[in-house]
Amino acid sequence: MSKRKRSLSGIKPTGEPHLGNYLGMIQPAIELQDEYEAFYFAADYHALTSVKDPVKMRRLVYHLTAYFLAFGLDPSKSAFFRQSDIPEVTELTWMLSCVTHMGLLERAHAYKAAIDRGEEKEINHGVFSYPVLMASDILIYDSDIVPVGSDQIQHVEMTRDMAQKFNGFFDGDFLKLPESRVRKEVATIPGTDGRKMSKSYGNLIEPLLPSKKLRKQCMKIDTDSKSLEEPKDPDTCTVVALYRLVATPDEVAEMEKNYRAGGYGYGHAKQELFEKLDATFSPYREKYDAIKDDSEYLEGVLAQGAARVRPVVEGVMERVRGAAGLGRT
Ligand code: ADP
Ligand code: TRP
Repeated sequence: MSKRKRSLSGIKPTGEPHLGNYLGMIQPAIELQDEYEAFYFAADYHALTSVKDPVKMRRLVYHLTAYFLAFGLDPSKSAFFRQSDIPEVTELTWMLSCVTHMGLLERAHAYKAAIDRGEEKEINHGVFSYPVLMASDILIYDSDIVPVGSDQIQHVEMTRDMAQKFNGFFDGDFLKLPESRVRKEVATIPGTDGRKMSKSYGNLIEPLLPSKKLRKQCMKIDTDSKSLEEPKDPDTCTVVALYRLVATPDEVAEMEKNYRAGGYGYGHAKQELFEKLDATFSPYREKYDAIKDDSEYLEGVLAQGAARVRPVVEGVMERVRGAAGLGRT
């Protein structure tokens, strides 16, 4: 088996990936594939808490797979797989549930947010136990690091808690404690309304959309109402914040100069941002469009990924079942 440390992460197939997903998780995760053994997956069990349409579920898993491939995931050395192709993850979820206090889960951000919205009675149990399934995802692969955006740090901390509890109850190092890996510069990408870019806010920039649609999203970015002539503050503007993520330092300095000088409107800035995004992402868009509906090819990649991770899963499951006295010896 490989001596390299293992990097693991997952992403839910709940919509087309956006710039926040790409910069916050997908790109950093793919970059780690040379140094680490990379295991990445489409979290369809997690998506089931909200996606109740089987056709959409399959399509979004394919699109996510195509996304990773378009951006350079190399299936000959890294695994990209479907979470539900490893059903043992639900078995470990149960085992972890039995060492996890309700109090821990009540502190999870997503659950607390749902309660704050007054949805206590409507949310399904999957939403409440979401962090346990995520812990299982991480622990079942003996993961060393978990590349994610900053909103997932809490979940990785909870994973460590659950692993420690399990190891404590059964008195041994059965589960490996993982660490989150967050890139500071891209920890939280803003959306078109200035809040965190998120599918649930509908404030997305989706870089692989056709140019026309991408331009429309850029033009939607909220700004203040300063006229074209007035000088503007580049440090409080979402257009500049997004431009900084894709443009060179010289290009950013030029835009900042234009802002301060006046005579440069937000429309100009948005057009420049669009052109930069379009130029940066069009080669990837071509690759993505060429494979995103090729289900046969994508199923092959997913099957290869699942086969690659399976021996690790079998080893860990034997260990934890033995630790807890489950099954035959
Ligand atoms: P969404 O909030 O749109 O539903 P997900 O929760 O599916 O996104 O996030 C998938 C991955 O992308 C996670 O690792 C998450 O941290 C990262 N991510 C999502 N939105 C952003 C963002 N705005 N900035 C940085 N990373 C993000
Ligand atoms: N909860 C993550 C998100 O919303 C997705 C996810 C599921 C995940 N399982 C994981 C991320 C395991 C990292 C490791 O984005």
